[in-house]
Amino acid sequence: MSTLGLFFMTAAMAAEPYQPTWESLDTRPNPQWFEDAKFGIFIHWGVYSVPAWGAKDAYAEWYWNHMQDKNGATWKFHEKTYGADFQYQDFAPMFKAELFDPDQWADIFVKSGAKYIVLTSKHHEGFCLWPSAQSWNWNAVDVGPHRDLAGDLIKAVHNKGLRMGYYYSIYEWYNPLYKADVNRYVDEHMLPQLKDLVERYQPDIIWPDGEWDHPSDVWRSTEFLAWLFNESSAPKDVVVNDRWGKECRNVHGGFATPEYGGIPEGKLIQSGHFEECQGMGKSFGYNRNEDATCYRSAKELLHLLIDNVSRGGNLLLDIGPTADGRIPDIMQQRLLDMGEWLAVNGEAIYGAEPWQDAPKMDQVRFTSKGDAIYAICLKWPGSELVIDKPAGMGAVKAMFLGHNQPLAVSETGGKVRIQMPILDIDQMPCRHAYVFKLNP
Ligand code: GLC
Repeated sequence: MSTLGLFFMTAAMAAEPYQPTWESLDTRPNPQWFEDAKFGIFIHWGVYSVPAWGAKDAYAEWYWNHMQDKNGATWKFHEKTYGADFQYQDFAPMFKAELFDPDQWADIFVKSGAKYIVLTSKHHEGFCLWPSAQSWNWNAVDVGPHRDLAGDLIKAVHNKGLRMGYYYSIYEWYNPLYKADVNRYVDEHMLPQLKDLVERYQPDIIWPDGEWDHPSDVWRSTEFLAWLFNESSAPKDVVVNDRWGKECRNVHGGFATPEYGGIPEGKLIQSGHFEECQGMGKSFGYNRNEDATCYRSAKELLHLLIDNVSRGGNLLLDIGPTADGRIPDIMQQRLLDMGEWLAVNGEAIYGAEPWQDAPKMDQVRFTSKGDAIYAICLKWPGSELVIDKPAGMGAVKAMFLGHNQPLAVSETGGKVRIQMPILDIDQMPCRHAYVFKLNP
C-alpha cells in the first residue's frame, strides 16, 4: 500500500474507532465527567402530566396504558373525572406549559448541586417534546404548548454550565406503525428521531428506555451507537445507558440503570458504573394522588444519594413538572435541601470513589479521593467516631467538613478514634448527615 493509502486508512480508523458490534462498543469507557458528577435530575414531562394521576404506588406516566384496564383505578378515575368518551389524545391541547420558565428551572438545578439533567424527550405515549417531523401533530410544537420544550430547556441548562441529555422511549404503545411492522418503525420513525435529537441539540446523554419487546439487533442499536460515537455531532464525551435491547441491561452499553434498586449482585456492566433512578415519591410523572406523606424527606433522599455514591454509582433523582410548566414546590424544596448539604459536603461526593477497604457500618458510608477517606455519618456519632484505620495512612488527621478545625484523634488496636467537636445545635454546618475527612 502507498504511504498515502496508509495515511487515509489510519485517519479513517482514528475517525471511526467503533464498530457496530457490542464487542467493540463495550470497550468504550464511561466518560469521566459522568462518573464524577454523581447527582443528576430526571424529568418526566409529557401529555400524562395533564391527568397527572395514578394509584399511590404506580407510575403516573403510564396513565394511557393503565386506562386500558377497565377494572383498574386509573380507568375509574378517568371515567369519573373526564367521562368515558374523553380520549387520552384529548389531553394534548390541555398541556400548555404556560408558566414554563427554563431559566428558573435551571437556577433550581444549579442550587440543587446536581450536575446533569435528563429530560423525557418522548415517553411510551410517543408524544415528542421537540418538533419531530416523524411525530407530526403529536409533538409540543404542533399541539399543546406550541413550544420546543426540549430545545428551550437544554439551552437554559447549558447556559448555566450543567450537562443535559434526553431520555427516549424506543417503543411506543399505540403507534400503528410499531404495531404493524417493527422494522419499518425502526427505519422510518425511531432511528430518524434519535438522530434528529442528536443533530439538533448535541445532547450530553442519550438515555433510551422501553427496549424490552425486542433484542438490540431489531432496534439496530449497535449501528446507532457506532454512528453516535464516530460520526454524529454529539460531544465526544456523550454518555449512554444500558437499555438498548431486551438482552442488554447490566450487560451492554455505557452504565447500568437500576430503578428502585435491583443491581444484580456481582453482575455489573464492564465499567462497574451504575446510575440508580427513583422518583421522590414512587411515580416519575407528576402524580396528584401522591400527598406530602408519599414524598421522601430531604434526609432520606440525601441518604439515598450518599449510599449510591459510596457504592460507586450515581443517583438520577426524578421530578415531575405540572402541565402548566411548574416544578411542584415540594420537589423544588427537596432539591434545594440537597443542594444546601452538597454546598458544604460536596467534596466527599463529586469525583469520589468507593473506599475499597471500607468496613461495614450501619450508620456510616465511606468514599475516597486522592489520599483522603470520607466517613459520612448518617447520624451524629455521639462523643467519638471509631473506625478501622485506613491501611497505610500513617498518622491520621481528621476534620469535620463545614467546621474545619482539626479534631483530636487517637489510635489504638488498628482503630482510629475521632473526638467529636462540642457544638451548639445552631453551629452545625449542615443537617441530615455529617462528613469526617481523614487524611495523612
Ligand atoms: C421504566 C418505565 C418508566 C420510567 C422509567 C425510568 O421502564 O416504563 O415509566 O420512565 O423506566 O427509569
